[in-house]
Amino acid sequence: MTTQSQEQARAANGGRDSLTVTDNRTGETFEVEITDGTVRAMDFRQMKVSEDDFGLMTYDPAYTNTASCRSSICYIDGDNGVLEYRGYSIEQLCEQSSYLEVAYLLIFGELPTKAQLDQWVHDVTMHTFVHENVREFLGGFRHDAHPMGMLLGSVGALSTFYPDANNIGDPTTRDIQAVRLIAKMPTLAAFAYRHAMGQPLVYPDNALGYPGNFLSMMYRMTELRYEPDPRLERALDVLFILHADHEQNCSTSAVRSVGSSQVDPYSAIAAGIGALYGPLHGGANEAVLRMLQRIETVDNIPGFLEGVKNGDERLMGFGHRVYKNYDPRARIIRKHLDDVFEVRGKSPLLDIATELEKRAMDDDYFVSRKLYPNVDYYSGLIYEALGLPVSMFPVMFAIPRTSGWIAQWLEMTLDSEQRIARPRQIYTGERVRDYMPVERR
Ligand code: SDX
Repeated sequence: MTTQSQEQARAANGGRDSLTVTDNRTGETFEVEITDGTVRAMDFRQMKVSEDDFGLMTYDPAYTNTASCRSSICYIDGDNGVLEYRGYSIEQLCEQSSYLEVAYLLIFGELPTKAQLDQWVHDVTMHTFVHENVREFLGGFRHDAHPMGMLLGSVGALSTFYPDANNIGDPTTRDIQAVRLIAKMPTLAAFAYRHAMGQPLVYPDNALGYPGNFLSMMYRMTELRYEPDPRLERALDVLFILHADHEQNCSTSAVRSVGSSQVDPYSAIAAGIGALYGPLHGGANEAVLRMLQRIETVDNIPGFLEGVKNGDERLMGFGHRVYKNYDPRARIIRKHLDDVFEVRGKSPLLDIATELEKRAMDDDYFVSRKLYPNVDYYSGLIYEALGLPVSMFPVMFAIPRTSGWIAQWLEMTLDSEQRIARPRQIYTGERVRDYMPVERR
């Protein structure tokens, strides 16, 4: 809401949204246009102290205040805890949609008709198998290899099985790679888990839905057909919806940056898996479970929080670069915990997590820094209840985020404003030194 004085200032400036910048080094004044709440960094290059001056750059480590692209896929209002995919609220999508329908929405921009959805589900279902050489490739990992490392390697390896995938200018090629990646991610994830467990791999069962097929590949043993519990299938489908996309997060930025070199989408998404692997990003759900296990009892919470406030460690699963309010995804996950516990039994860690959240929410250290539970705080409790080892938790994040990565990769590929990502730097090192032979150093 603009005030009268703001309206007067704007009118005096011909009604244009702009900055008037005076370079005090030269006394020169510049008009810098404001568009969509941003100014173009390149508009500062004209500000020089001499003809051969490179001009001003903007400096923004970790891109905390830099928009890297224009996107219509995911909207977040961090102050009000709002998350929308293509304008649909995450709450409505979790109540009424399915992960595969949400994946279609993210990639194509609109909810599918019945015929489009049926075709999409059929296409994904028909591409769940991986080449037998991939199965052998996975067998080469150590018995205790972290499944995220196996997923990273196997997704990158897929680029060698589909050499036409680097023909990113062809829409038909782009579309089939999108289907393959969404279809094969659960298969590769389950294969990594079964490898770690020393159990025989279970192939996809195309008679099951997307989450049910994943549970079958994870847990089928000697039974002829795995019958997933519908309550677990639904809880998993909701978790997949919640993790599908989240604007320009670290891993999506990695996919866009690597994809900007026009490499194939498998290699770009392998880069996203690498970024998601980190404990500050997708690895946080694994770190939360290990943190709760380490706290062990509710009585240890005050001492633990003191350690966090002393800077000894972070309260994992709390805080967010964008959300300065409760992450809406955490709220939805918290609700679905009971459904999973009804089937699998309640985790003793839930009482610790609930009390830890309550104590942190009452503590000014966290409130003053606007640190609230994020998507990773409760998700691990569901994965633990599903019987997953903690090392599989970030893999559960990568499976659904694949649809968001693909949607963002496609948008970047088709964006005429985008070129190869190549930031600049502030050079702080030595200049022009003569080589010194080793005997004289
Ligand atoms: C995800 O970007 C996305 O959208 C990511 C994601 C997605 O869907 O893709 O939402 C998924 O990655 C969720 C975040 C999961 N990570 C964690 O839960 C790890 C713990 N959280 C943090 O490390 C941290 O909050 C981040 C990384 C999430 C955000 O870090 P920022 O925005 O860079 O904030 P910061 O590190 O600058 O911290 C600001 C202040 C600092 O205190 P001061 O130095 O000012 O005194 O808050 C403190 C930090 O020390 N702080 C924490 C804290 N997070 C920030 N203190 C204790 N515990 C924490 N968790």
